[in-house]
Amino acid sequence: MPSVDIDKNSLPDHVGVIMDGNGRWAQRRGFPRSKGHIEGAKRFRKMIFCCRKRNIKALTVYAFSTENWGRPKLEVDLLIKLFKTQLQSALLDFSDENIKVNFLGDVSKFPDSLHMLIKKIVKISENNKKMTLNIALNYGGRAEIVNAVKSLVSEYFERKVSIAEIDENKFSNFLYTKGQSDPDLIIRTGGEFRLSNFLLWQSAYSELFFTKTLWPDFKESEFDEILNEYASRKRRYGGIQA
Ligand code: FPP
Repeated sequence: MPSVDIDKNSLPDHVGVIMDGNGRWAQRRGFPRSKGHIEGAKRFRKMIFCCRKRNIKALTVYAFSTENWGRPKLEVDLLIKLFKTQLQSALLDFSDENIKVNFLGDVSKFPDSLHMLIKKIVKISENNKKMTLNIALNYGGRAEIVNAVKSLVSEYFERKVSIAEIDENKFSNFLYTKGQSDPDLIIRTGGEFRLSNFLLWQSAYSELFFTKTLWPDFKESEFDEILNEYASRKRRYGGIQA
């Protein structure tokens, strides 16, 4: 159960999370960074249940950015292995909890075994309805926007779309999050105050929360505190307060 009483009508529909701080969590304990990622993956699984329990409709997590390929090969290989094992073992949860899973990013760049598993998960979960889980893997917000522009230009040359028809709504149909609502709330753990290329288009009106807590330490009770503060924020979308 949520640890504080939150008005259900004030809950966000869509929560985004930048799961930062795995490496530091491990290093502070004298462990290799890989241990931090393993603990981070456990926290990720718990976060899915936290959101599902609170009837939050969508959760988007930033698991691997287009920039993360620049990490040492050993760490990248470990992360890929971890994505595989975690996703494989979460398969049943996705069915039991009626969760539709999407992947944001160019997942074709991962080894075949992970790419195939991703395709399988998307297919198996496509008709699930209770919650949407977006996992951003090999994702970058700028790359997403550039890809959307390329697709839109192709459609223009194929005469499928005219200049007059292009608006924000049309454009968002070319993003990985096509058809989904924008995140109402984005949380970044790990103490940095930036979005690091996460959901650049979709975050235009998101409420942002930054916490020093390292991702493996991010507990349900802190999530509830954030949800509580979110409920008290006034969202004006550029208008004036009523
Ligand atoms: C950032 O912390 C974290 C990552 C790059 C990896 C996040 C991945 C997981 C939590 C596993 C999720 C699993 C699935 C199946 C989606 P960091 O390494 O940058 O930490 P640091 O800033 O302390 O170095």
